[in-house]
Amino acid sequence: MANKGDGTRPHSQVLLELQRLDVGSAVALVGHPIHVMLVHFPVAFVVATLGVDVFYWWSGDAFWLRAGLWSAGVAFWSGVAASIVGTAELLLVRGIRLHEASWSHAIAAMTLVAIAGASWGLRLGDPASVLPHGLVLSVLASVMVGFAGWHGGKLVFDHGLGILVSPKN
Ligand code: HEM
Repeated sequence: MANKGDGTRPHSQVLLELQRLDVGSAVALVGHPIHVMLVHFPVAFVVATLGVDVFYWWSGDAFWLRAGLWSAGVAFWSGVAASIVGTAELLLVRGIRLHEASWSHAIAAMTLVAIAGASWGLRLGDPASVLPHGLVLSVLASVMVGFAGWHGGKLVFDHGLGILVSPKN
């Protein structure tokens, strides 16, 4: 996909960009960026919390209150962990710092983590406040996780941030 027939100049816009700036991950495990490994957890648990809240609304079964408390807590704390590693990438890698899109992604992600934290804190303080406030926060968090996740994907697939490129590509 990447090279022209002469094998010298990359054809892809992303590879031309990668020649200009070093945007390789600085926080990786055996070549795999840790941020990318962690982000699945907040994405999955934010959406799961919305599902759990809808089940509680529908059934009134207190089991879903307990499930929502745990799910919202995992969503928040895994979001904090992903954000710490994402921030390390942003601060340590000059090429990532120089992309405006990285900062937009960071702002969207921090907004998401703040909403997820509010959702968890609300449930800790008063589990019954899930209807309506917890449910509203779950809807907001799901919208933000969609936006932050989509934007994070653009960082990787449109700008090539955090990827390792083999000379064969
Ligand atoms: C301040 C917080 C954050 C910063 C600075 C940040 C930064 C980055 C960076 C630099 C990348 C490019 C890949 C890499 O270098 O590892 C990325 C990818 C990504 N980020 Fe974040 N991130 C943050 C928080 C989050 C959170 C909380 C989520 C959860 C939704 C998230 C979702 C993603 C996704 C889905 C990708 C693309 C992964 C892929 O498609 O392989 N980020 N982020």
